[in-house]
This record gives sequence, structure tokens and C-alpha cells, in this order.
Amino acid sequence: MATAQKQQAGSQPWLHQHGKEIQPFGTVRLFPIALSHDTRMYSCQRLNQILSDTQILYALYKKHHWLVRGQTFYQLHLLLDKHAGEQLTLVDTLAERVQTLGGVAVGDPRHVAEITQVPRPPDGAEEVPAMLSRLLEAHEIILADAHDAAARVAELGDDGTNDLLVSDVIRTGEMQAWFLAEHLVDTPLVRSDGAKARR
Ligand SMILES: [Fe+2]
Repeated sequence: MATAQKQQAGSQPWLHQHGKEIQPFGTVRLFPIALSHDTRMYSCQRLNQILSDTQILYALYKKHHWLVRGQTFYQLHLLLDKHAGEQLTLVDTLAERVQTLGGVAVGDPRHVAEITQVPRPPDGAEEVPAMLSRLLEAHEIILADAHDAAARVAELGDDGTNDLLVSDVIRTGEMQAWFLAEHLVDTPLVRSDGAKARR
């Protein structure tokens, strides 16, 4: 018996299998969900852009969770990890919406890097306020795109994508931006200006 036939007869897994691409990126399969081909193509393209930027935002949150330093280390270390986790949930939600529409979700980080609009940070560490500003700017890039995409997919009748963008991407992004921005307020920690003046 040939070696291959012996493997097939037993429980040996078929290893090292390589095949051709069966659905190119940027195409959609037909699912019976009452949305036209053109609508699904458009939504997938907008979703993949936001998915790429969200994957980068997730990675930036992790980078800064690790690299943050100084007096606010502990609270920021925890906060940035919480935000990272919430962004990772959004990554999965966005990707599965693309698949629901028949498309191909951008997944490989090298592909993500080609698509994202979020500027690349230095490989090293920045000062903490610059880290927070960088995260806020990434949020605003995604929020601007999500607002525009939400309105356009609603015009095309894709209510599910509109709901995801408004209820998940925009609401989460706005809330996280608030929490970040409050850390950039230069406010006294112990004595107010009035208390100082009375001395
Ligand atoms: Fe951690």
C-alpha cells in the first residue's frame, strides 16, 4: 500500500495542504438577506476601512498600556487595557458584519497596515500626553469615517450596518474619547487656585 493511502486509511491528519484563493478580497457572495449586490459591496468596503483602523487603534491601546509611565501609570495602565478589550470586541463585530454581508474581512495585520488611515507612531515610547493625544486622534479618524459611513449605508437600506456603526463603533468611540480627554485637563490635584491665593 502506498504511503498516502496508508495515511488516508488511518487517522493521520492531511498535513501541509495548500490551495488556491476561493474568494478574492473586495468581492461579495450572494446571501438571501434582501440587500443588493452593490449595497453589500459598498458596506463591506466602508466596514473594512473602519475594521482596519479599529485593529490599529486596538494595537495602539495595547502598546500604550505597556509603555505608559509616571504618576498616573496604574490608572492609565488599567484604563488603556479596558479600552483595548472593548476595541477588540468591535474588531470582531465589524469583521463578522463583513462576513454576514458576503464579503471578506481584512484580517492579516500586514494587510491592515496597507489599508489603515491612522498614522504610524514611533516604535519607541512617547511622553504620556502625546500617547493620549495620539489615541484621541485615532478615535477621531474612526469617528469621522463611521459617521459618514453610517449615513450613507442607511441611504442604501443597510440598516444592520448603520446600527452597528452608530450603536457600537460611534457610541464606544465617543465614550472612550471622553475618558482619554479628561486625562489631558491640567487641573490642580490637591489645592485649588483659590486656596493657594488665600495663603
Ligand atoms: Fe496587560
